[in-house]
Amino acid sequence: MQDIPVLTIDGPSGVGKGSVARIVADKMGWNLLDSGAIYRGFALSSLSRNINLTDEQDLIEHAEKLDLRFESIEGQELLNVYVDGVEVSKELRTEKTAEIASQLAVIGPLRVALLKKQQQFKQSPGLVADGRDMGTVVFPNAPFKVYLTASAQERAQRRLKQLQNSANAGNISQILAEVKKRDERDANRKHSPLTPAKDALIIDTTCLTIDEVITKVMALVEV
Ligand code: C5P
Repeated sequence: MQDIPVLTIDGPSGVGKGSVARIVADKMGWNLLDSGAIYRGFALSSLSRNINLTDEQDLIEHAEKLDLRFESIEGQELLNVYVDGVEVSKELRTEKTAEIASQLAVIGPLRVALLKKQQQFKQSPGLVADGRDMGTVVFPNAPFKVYLTASAQERAQRRLKQLQNSANAGNISQILAEVKKRDERDANRKHSPLTPAKDALIIDTTCLTIDEVITKVMALVEV
């Protein structure tokens, strides 16, 4: 029996993984996994349940029970996200939530507890999965792997654009500092660090439009 195809898209913050993944999944008619939303949702749920963020055992137990649901709304670009039954889509996408998610994401056993949740997204007819360790750890046997990069300055600009609708979007130098700090932590952690899989196609998107990136990624999957 033929295995369900998976395209992994990894890379640092603000590189455009989310948009590329969404568009390619749409074009291919495949399912979509935004693994960052799982780490962010977990962070929000832990905060709202007053879990001690320094107690690894409590965090792991909570991860195993995490109640997270995605809902796609017609005509709306981003999915609605529910944590413990409560809609948290806006809060989920703030830099503050990303920072807490990144702090928790260094804990190896916690990543293991969230692994199955991510792998369950692999369903027919295919999956596009975006994150930091999709090609290296979560779907190491995926037939299609992409690693997107861009200069930190460019990524901060893109992130600012993304956050423009939020009341506390911040300014470019603040976002640049946050993005750099988060990437450094993600790249230097012991468990599942941010790094390209050996068999990933690396695309530097600094000077590319989103359409140009999509064309390159589609050329890989449309074989
Ligand atoms: O991709 P996003 O910015 O939503 O991810 C938020 C944080 O979650 C990242 O900075 C990273 O620390 C963590 N993360 C991770 N592994 C993934 C996806 C996200 O460690 N596969």
